[in-house]
Amino acid sequence: MLWDSQRYLARHGFIIERGQALVDLLDPQAGERILDLGCGTGDITAAIARRGAQVVGVDASAAMITHARERFPRQDFRVADAAALPFHKEFDAVYSHAVLHWVPRASEAARGIARALQPGGRLVAEFGGHRNCEALETAFAGALRRITRQDYRSPWFFPRLSGYAARLELHGLVVRAAWYFDLPTPLKGEDGLRQWFIQFLPHHLDGLDEATREAVLAATEAALKPALWRDRAWWADYRRLRVVAERAI
Ligand code: BEZ
Repeated sequence: MLWDSQRYLARHGFIIERGQALVDLLDPQAGERILDLGCGTGDITAAIARRGAQVVGVDASAAMITHARERFPRQDFRVADAAALPFHKEFDAVYSHAVLHWVPRASEAARGIARALQPGGRLVAEFGGHRNCEALETAFAGALRRITRQDYRSPWFFPRLSGYAARLELHGLVVRAAWYFDLPTPLKGEDGLRQWFIQFLPHHLDGLDEATREAVLAATEAALKPALWRDRAWWADYRRLRVVAERAI
């Protein structure tokens, strides 16, 4: 997927804010070596570095890495695929926020994370879990089908907690704690819902002519308004998995 990093910062900065809360759970210590897996714009990489850790930020998107390097020129950013990580026992911790639901090759990701960690090193991750964005995807799929006759293709993998934890353990990590919870998330502005679809589903929207695209977005908004518009804001039906694990010794 081609990322629009400017739109991400302007409209979906709340994802970065949420990532800060996960940094508190990571609790990085001065001198620790930490991998920020799926670093995006690099804001969290820089926040972890401000706590005194040595951080490497990796992202599969070359455009995001270019943008991150421009924003934080002193940080170490590299292009790398989460399902093919090139590291061997280099890190005390792997941090990952809002990324692993983009990685359906979860076994490869788990294996690469375990390999990247020192024995006893920790993984702290949060991402979309089972039925994440179910209302959003269902409404969009219906509007797309009715208006364009195209079938919706989800770019995401939203696993159940038990299956994901088992996968991590199978590939060399020991799960210490895990949570699955609802996280209704306000989107910014009256056009927040359509901005979310424009950001995250370009593979469907970019190919449509202006009028068709508008019709799909308007029909999606109309379908979701009764459930997701309240207190003068759109609320995305996020459901999260949060996992703390460590590499088996
Ligand atoms: C999430 O954080 O759950 C998410 C973000 C963007 C697209 C889909 C899900």
